[in-house]
Amino acid sequence: GLFSRYYHKPARSTAFKVLTEGDLRHFKSILPAETILATPEIGGTADPIELDGFNADWLNKYRGNSQLVLRPKTTKEVSEILKYCNDQGIAVVPQGGNTGLVGGSVPVHDEVVLSLRNMNKIRSYDELSGILVCDAGCVLEELGNYVGERDHIMPLDLGAKGSCHIGGNVAANAGGIRFLRYGTLHGSVLGLEVVLPDGTVLDNMSTLRKDNTGYDLKQLFIGSEGTLGIITGVSIATPRKPSSVNVAVLGVPSYEKVQQAFKLARRRCGEILSAYEFWDASCMGAVLKHHDLKSPLSSDFPFYVLIETSGSNKDHDDEKLGALLEELMEEGIVEDGALAQDETQISRMWSMREGIPESLGKTGATYKYDVSIPIPVLYDVVGDIAARLEKASLFKPEEQPGSDHPVKLVCGYGHIGDGNLHLNIVAERFEDRVTNIFEPFVYEWVASHRGSISAEHGVGLMKRDYLGYSKSPEMIDYMRRIKNLFDPKGILNPYKVV
Ligand code: FAD
Ligand code: MLT
Ligand code: ZN
Repeated sequence: GLFSRYYHKPARSTAFKVLTEGDLRHFKSILPAETILATPEIGGTADPIELDGFNADWLNKYRGNSQLVLRPKTTKEVSEILKYCNDQGIAVVPQGGNTGLVGGSVPVHDEVVLSLRNMNKIRSYDELSGILVCDAGCVLEELGNYVGERDHIMPLDLGAKGSCHIGGNVAANAGGIRFLRYGTLHGSVLGLEVVLPDGTVLDNMSTLRKDNTGYDLKQLFIGSEGTLGIITGVSIATPRKPSSVNVAVLGVPSYEKVQQAFKLARRRCGEILSAYEFWDASCMGAVLKHHDLKSPLSSDFPFYVLIETSGSNKDHDDEKLGALLEELMEEGIVEDGALAQDETQISRMWSMREGIPESLGKTGATYKYDVSIPIPVLYDVVGDIAARLEKASLFKPEEQPGSDHPVKLVCGYGHIGDGNLHLNIVAERFEDRVTNIFEPFVYEWVASHRGSISAEHGVGLMKRDYLGYSKSPEMIDYMRRIKNLFDPKGILNPYKVV
């Protein structure tokens, strides 16, 4: 059939009800008509094609077969939907911007898609404290614009900002490119409003920085990937916009030197360093091919680094970054560097880094491994995977177009300042003979270095069966118990995470 076994699709659980026309009638009685997309299969009128965007993920790797998408406008509607689904045993997959990369945001079978996209209002903003309270379906970039007009920034930023929702970010505990400076959402999220599977609304929309009144329940939902409750509201601390931002792109001759440059950047510019990202020559090739961008450097290098500083005194920052760049060049750690001269150049340099995932997607079917590994050995895994693929005659580095190896690229990039590598393998298509070369090998590799098999993208469907490489049996047991406590019927995002 269309879908090979390149990902394991668990069998549909018979515990879940198959939707009927009666169910659709019920949803019509509690929701405005325009918020419902139902196919003729369950008595609706939507063309099944209209549901495609909800059934397929961003990578075009995972695909479900939902016949019903609900897009409620209020927390009360979410509560009524869940209460009914829980009573009836109907499975539900929460969906934000559907930019997730682990198959978590799309149905596996015929789960109802509950999309948060109609819940996109800002509830309040306090310019003194920078605390933003908003609906979960607000798009990250729009929030960035809103707080930007008030001299603040969102504490997180990522390439998917134009589509992803703040609720999806929280549910996935997204990391991204500001993590180095502003840290995890476990710190910046101050409160959440969550609807539990039985319809209970947990109102924990605190705007307090400090609140030690027992267990911090909201933390459980940060990174829960839609398995414990539906996040409908978010309260989040936004930092002041730095008045001075500098960005430079560096050409680096070896991975060893990428690390040396990081060490020196921290030593010389630690207090203003706000990002330290890297990518390799294969990524650069793909991004320059598929985006309207030119390398700011004079020649090609094995590795590239993007370094950003953010502070409040331009002269001071310019002087410090300038001195760092000089020292890096003098020491031979960096062979070439370009410092952005204005906002346009800053945003071009960031597009180069942020455009990598999209350019790989345009190159072919992209397998993504998002791992935390101690920095000194972080890039080794890229070479080891490439060697395995080459040995299996599936890949030849730097081969000419027209050859018949199914794997096109093996490359690495990521948030090296956070010890987070994105290992990507780009092939003609998703297929078992390719997958089998690096699964479970890559997970074994990561576990042998006591790394994490998911640094920031989560577990979803993709890594559910591999959790044991990063978590002990006791921890997985307690995860299951927590899942059971919040969702005893298992209706929320079934088949995912645990
Ligand atoms: P979705 O993809 O819709 O959902 C993600 C998960 O959360 C699913 O399990 C879903 O069921 C659940 N969910 C969504 N909304 C809710 C809700 N309101 N309540 C409960 N559960 C919910 N990730 C990073 O960490 N760092 C990056 O730098 C990064 N860059 C990216 C760049 C690109 C180009 C792309 C395509 C993705 C990137 N991602 C990154 C992955 C992804 O964008 C993030 O994980 C993002 O946070 C997902 O948000 P979303 O709204 O699209 O959520
Ligand atoms: C990134 O850092 O670009 C994102 O996590 C997306 C990806 O890994 O491709
Ligand atoms: Zn990332």
